[in-house]
Amino acid sequence: MADATHGPASFWTQADALLRKNLTFQKRNLRTNIRLIIFPFFLCLLLVLIQSLVNKELDKPSNRCGCTCVDTNGDGQCEEKCGIEYSTLDQVGTCPIPHPPEWPPLLQIPAQRYRAVRTDFISYSDLSDESCKTTGSCPVTMLLTGNNQTLGLGVAANMFARRPLNVNSSDILFSLANYPLGSQSKTQFSSFLEPAFFSNLPVYYVQSQCAPNSEFPVSLQIGSAAFQQDVSCVPGLQLWRNSSSEINDELYKGYRKGNKERKINEILAAYDFLNSNANNFNVSIWYNSTYKNDSGNQPLGLTRVPRSVNLISNAYLQFLLGPSVQMLFEFVKEMPKPETKLRLDFSSLLGPLFFSWVIFQLFPVVLTSLVYEKQQRLRIMMKMHGLGDWPYWMISYAYFLLISSIYMLCFVIFGSLIGLKFFTLNDYSIQFVFYFIYINLQVSAAFLVADLFSNVKTTTVVGYMMVFGSGLLGGFLFQFFLQDTSFPRAGIIAMELYPGFSLYRGLYEFAQYSFTGNYMGTDGMRWKDLNDSKNGMREVLIIMLVQWLVLLGVAYYADQVASSGRNPLYFLWKHQNKPSTSFRKPSFQKQGSKVFVEMEKLDVVQEREKVEQLLQESSTGHAIICDDLKKVYPGRDGNPEKFAVRGLSLALPQGECFGMLGPNGAGKTSFINMMIGLIKPSSGAAYVQGLDIRTDMNQIYTSMGVCPQHDLLWERLTGREHLLFYGRLKNLKGAALNQAVEESLRSVNLFHGGVADKQAGKYSGGMKRRLSVAISLIGDPKVVYMDEPSTGLDPASRKMLWNVVKRAKQNRAIILTTHSMEEAEHLCDRLGIFVDGSLQCVGNPKELKARYGGSYVFTMTTISNHEEEVENLVRHLSPNANKIYQISGTQKFELPKQEIIISEVFKAVENAKSRFTVHAWGLADTTLEDVFIKVARGAQEFNVLS
Ligand SMILES: *[C@@H]1O[C@H](CO)[C@@H](O)[C@H](O)[C@H]1NC(C)=O
Ligand SMILES: *[C@@H]1O[C@H](CO)[C@@H](O)[C@H](O)[C@H]1NC(C)=O
Ligand SMILES: *[C@@H]1O[C@H](CO)[C@@H](O)[C@H](O)[C@H]1NC(C)=O
Ligand SMILES: *[C@@H]1O[C@H](CO)[C@@H](O)[C@H](O)[C@H]1NC(C)=O
Ligand SMILES: *[C@@H]1O[C@H](CO)[C@@H](O)[C@H](O)[C@H]1NC(C)=O
Repeated sequence: MADATHGPASFWTQADALLRKNLTFQKRNLRTNIRLIIFPFFLCLLLVLIQSLVNKELDKPSNRCGCTCVDTNGDGQCEEKCGIEYSTLDQVGTCPIPHPPEWPPLLQIPAQRYRAVRTDFISYSDLSDESCKTTGSCPVTMLLTGNNQTLGLGVAANMFARRPLNVNSSDILFSLANYPLGSQSKTQFSSFLEPAFFSNLPVYYVQSQCAPNSEFPVSLQIGSAAFQQDVSCVPGLQLWRNSSSEINDELYKGYRKGNKERKINEILAAYDFLNSNANNFNVSIWYNSTYKNDSGNQPLGLTRVPRSVNLISNAYLQFLLGPSVQMLFEFVKEMPKPETKLRLDFSSLLGPLFFSWVIFQLFPVVLTSLVYEKQQRLRIMMKMHGLGDWPYWMISYAYFLLISSIYMLCFVIFGSLIGLKFFTLNDYSIQFVFYFIYINLQVSAAFLVADLFSNVKTTTVVGYMMVFGSGLLGGFLFQFFLQDTSFPRAGIIAMELYPGFSLYRGLYEFAQYSFTGNYMGTDGMRWKDLNDSKNGMREVLIIMLVQWLVLLGVAYYADQVASSGRNPLYFLWKHQNKPSTSFRKPSFQKQGSKVFVEMEKLDVVQEREKVEQLLQESSTGHAIICDDLKKVYPGRDGNPEKFAVRGLSLALPQGECFGMLGPNGAGKTSFINMMIGLIKPSSGAAYVQGLDIRTDMNQIYTSMGVCPQHDLLWERLTGREHLLFYGRLKNLKGAALNQAVEESLRSVNLFHGGVADKQAGKYSGGMKRRLSVAISLIGDPKVVYMDEPSTGLDPASRKMLWNVVKRAKQNRAIILTTHSMEEAEHLCDRLGIFVDGSLQCVGNPKELKARYGGSYVFTMTTISNHEEEVENLVRHLSPNANKIYQISGTQKFELPKQEIIISEVFKAVENAKSRFTVHAWGLADTTLEDVFIKVARGAQEFNVLS
């Protein structure tokens, strides 16, 4: 026998037991785990694949620095040369440019059809006539104002070219730079190549009056490439306005609105000379910075502004000092740059969506695992065998956290190994903190949400819907709000209160940083970037951290409420819930139960008196004392209240097995459920080993064993693992544990043929039953409840089970419900017949049989004609005989024992046989079954009457 003197299991023992069980369980779930891990691997590989396709696309010649085959020495053999001079405007961005070419600075010339003319909405008479648009000879207009018109016009006269184009062919660009050049083409991101020289539009120079046909082709040399460029004259019109507000007004009216071309009047530039004089040059310039190129949203007008500044400065200088003095603005050029590559990181683009799926995927896993234990009532089963709330919480939490961490670690390592920029560019420590807080939040949220579900299938469906829904909503709605700068910040924060979105936001920020980091060839997110006003990571971390702690508290509290069946506001009610001391004189006395008390049988009354006496003595010799225990279910939907248990008093000494018999629905299971703490009694009390079931249930659990009516087992754990787990919970260790488990397995016949190491899900009903019994007995509990332990067992196993129970009852109290009279008779020291919520009788089987079955049963079969003769015979033997039934010649009678001498019966039958044919006859003592039927029927009849 194992060491029987062990105390309740310590916190760490319980935690250890649960952890080992969980790990075994996880091992069993290997296939699910692999599936779980394959998902992120698959997504990562998909990303890598897409990335390589994208890279291939980006690597196409049109996205690389341009190259051409040049025949350098004229021998027909060409040599490939690459560089800016062989590139298109789009390719230039990627070329190495150690010596950027220089370009003359240009003015932005309005396109012919937009140039300012006289219209119905701008009526200045000095503007050009609208007819110029048809001839294509519209001038570009420059507006001027200032305090001193003489000075203003004098300065302006020096702005435009004085002479027609005259190019020194040995230094073309330099001579061009002498003229006020302009272009209507739009600028690029960079000025490595001036787009004005790479479009079919002419480069203009502005002159007050243009000579006819003043368009010249000019040949230019950039590096080793030569090309032609048309340079043509455009007339410039300088108009004086009375004030700057007039200019404003004119510019405003001429602004291009939509596509209604007739409403457009664009101006080359406008100058206000303010209070300038010969000593003081003070000017303000209007320029149009909203010129954009077609694709970008970069304001590019700025690169054309410097020329308009130089234009007026030079004109002022010449106004003061004469035309021979010049202040030239010859060239602009970019700074040199190395070769770059077009890079687009796909993991950063798709990352937030994919990775939020990957990480969120753990949520349904944790959730279903929690709901599974709830659905199968395994949690309560564990609790009944002594698993405290704290160890359960701590280990479950730590366990899920561990699983999540391992999963995340695999994910990040794998992602980094295959080179996803999302992982490699961002600081690992930020990623670590983010993932860690998030998985904690996720586990606590799962604990809370698990309270809402009770079915694994629903949970799985809802869980995965949440996963995919949140990802998609994040990717296609939430991200849209993030990118919309006008969307209120408070709205974003409100949305981030939903963990799915805060996860998405975090991943989105990582992606933003890794994307730009990759594009620019710099780092991803670093700690200092958390101060960046556009970076939402800091607020996400704070939200998640706070939420985690809050949810953890709420989840623990909700769990307490759910598992104890207490009022959700129990802490407010605590004082009212204290055990009242008035239970000994029950004030709760309904009319119906009063009648019952009066009608109670003597033995029941004796039991009640015994209980009262024991309570006064407060002796602990009795393992179980129930004092007037009642359970009333409140009426629902107009149904009256249901009395499941109507005042049950019972005292069980150590070493007794008490059998509870009763028809279905009599209240046996309600009684057991009260005793094992699943439901609270409506009134009355019960003491187990001197501890009150209403207040000390947690202590009671440590010395209690339960074999519930329905087997509460983990499908994936083997019989041995079940016993090991519950044995550990009962503080069995080492060799004692193994020995106890072996014995237990042997005793319920689960030892041979490897049955012990088969998963419980594969057991037959009988095997599960036997395992449940073994569980209830392991670890030497002092009190054991067995709810119909032998249902579904074959006769051999049942015999074996009986032996187990018989052996077990020696030093503990067992309460057993059963429908098998044979079992009751065989196992129980005392029996109680329980009908309609109350005990009808209590006593040992022999007593009961004697009391209720004080008669023999006499059966005789003859042909129908002799029925009367048989009845006469019986009446003669026993005047008070009671006919039970009569069917086509077979009759059954009850003969009171005191009136009968058995030999007389035999004589009478012999006698009868000589007179008529007797097909068969029999005389039997009453069975327990007869007693049961009698008592049950009697009580029910009484109930119908009352
Ligand atoms: C305007 O400028 C001219 C040229 O500098 C100068 O001669 C004249 O006095 C100025 N007029 C006023 C009112 O200052
Ligand atoms: C043309 O430019 C070259 C080099 O700057 C210079 O030597 C030459 O005198 C110039 N010719 C004329 C006609 O200005
Ligand atoms: C501008 O001022 C001149 C002279 O003072 C005046 O004749 C003219 O009407 C003014 N123009 C407008 C549009 O006010
Ligand atoms: C300024 O540039 C924008 C964009 O090209 C154009 O629509 C608008 O008409 C321009 N305004 C003026 C006054 O030239
Ligand atoms: C330029 O003109 C503005 C507006 O009249 C004036 O406020 C500012 O003091 C002037 N600056 C100088 C340097 O005279």
